[in-house]
Amino acid sequence: MLRSEIFVLVLAWLGLVVGEMPTHKFKNGDEMPLLGLGTWKSEPDEVKTAVKEAIKLGYRHIDCAAIYGNEKEVGEALAESFNEGIVKREDMWITSKVWNDSHEQVSTALKKTLADLQLDYVDLYLIHWPISLKNGVSFPQDKHDMFHFDGERTWKAMESTVDMGLARHIGVSNFSTHKLGRILANYRIKPEVNQVERHPYLQQQHLVQFCRMNGILVTNYSSLGSGDRPAAFKPEGEPVLLEDATVKEVAAAVGATPAGVLLKWGIQQGSAVIPKSVNPERLKQNLEVPETVHLDDAAMEKLNAMDIHRRYVDGAFWALAGSAYTVETLWDEVGDPFQEEL
Ligand SMILES: NC(=O)c1ccc[n+]([C@@H]2O[C@H](COP(=O)([O-])OP(=O)(O)OC[C@H]3O[C@@H](n4cnc5c(N)ncnc54)[C@H](OP(=O)(O)O)[C@@H]3O)[C@@H](O)[C@H]2O)c1
Repeated sequence: MLRSEIFVLVLAWLGLVVGEMPTHKFKNGDEMPLLGLGTWKSEPDEVKTAVKEAIKLGYRHIDCAAIYGNEKEVGEALAESFNEGIVKREDMWITSKVWNDSHEQVSTALKKTLADLQLDYVDLYLIHWPISLKNGVSFPQDKHDMFHFDGERTWKAMESTVDMGLARHIGVSNFSTHKLGRILANYRIKPEVNQVERHPYLQQQHLVQFCRMNGILVTNYSSLGSGDRPAAFKPEGEPVLLEDATVKEVAAAVGATPAGVLLKWGIQQGSAVIPKSVNPERLKQNLEVPETVHLDDAAMEKLNAMDIHRRYVDGAFWALAGSAYTVETLWDEVGDPFQEEL
């Protein structure tokens, strides 16, 4: 064994290995790694290899959802990793989300997810969107596929998944301060996470502050700008976050890649990030970000000045003619009293 390897082993034994994965500690002591692997758009035939590779590299947090259509393959990767002794179930953090057509069948939907993932429980279960669709409808064709979202009622069903031992923690996604506030006014089990789009072009500081004040962890999605979104969601000529001049300038200044800068921007503010990749080299690069990228005050200031309120996942696909949903009522940003207070 080389002297350098012995040195690293001794450091590890002392718990001093530089750049240990930062975590968020929940009230019950459970810890969620602040960097996880996203799986939206990872094709079923590539996601199994990607998840297995990620776990071998050291990822301990995987972000899944029923609607991604690949939980079965993620489950195969998890089962093989457990069977091969690469990692133990209790050392993994697995998130999944109830799709919009299952708000009246939350525990049934979670049981299907658990069967696909080959797990007895998920660490975190989220309401994917504050949008309700008829059961069996993945994406609405017209207003008849949609109905009123009853957040309080859906939240009660989420709470029962904890009672049943199917989920250890529950939370929401794509929720505004207004919709979160309604749940916070009357809950039995608290929402502990809000997963929302967040990056320097869409910083949502008022939402983050609201969540922080209420002890809710924010997980940032599309941290890298979601460049592989379906063409239908991608307007021509949109600004490309990974190619932004300021991001590149900061990256050059701190000796990191643009992706590294964008991920560390979130982690350094105490948010979780869940970059999606199916590429072994990028999986490795992303995992190394917490320990290899350091953003000083000057770098953070430059990134914090980049907000243009640009959503890559803008939710316009829910605003069907004649339905009760509009982009304004989805994000509740106009007249948000909390935003006005700041
Ligand atoms: N709750 C929600 O409604 C919601 C919405 C959107 C996303 N999410 C979650 O958040 C995850 C991440 O968001 P996202 O998938 O929209 O997009 P993202 O992570 O911002 O970007 C993914 C794209 O970046 C590329 N990439 C990954 N690492 C890179 C690196 N180091 N350098 C350059 N390019 C890199 C990926 O390509 P390769 O795969 O080829 O590396 C892919 O094209 C999703 O997968 C999903 O789990 C949740």
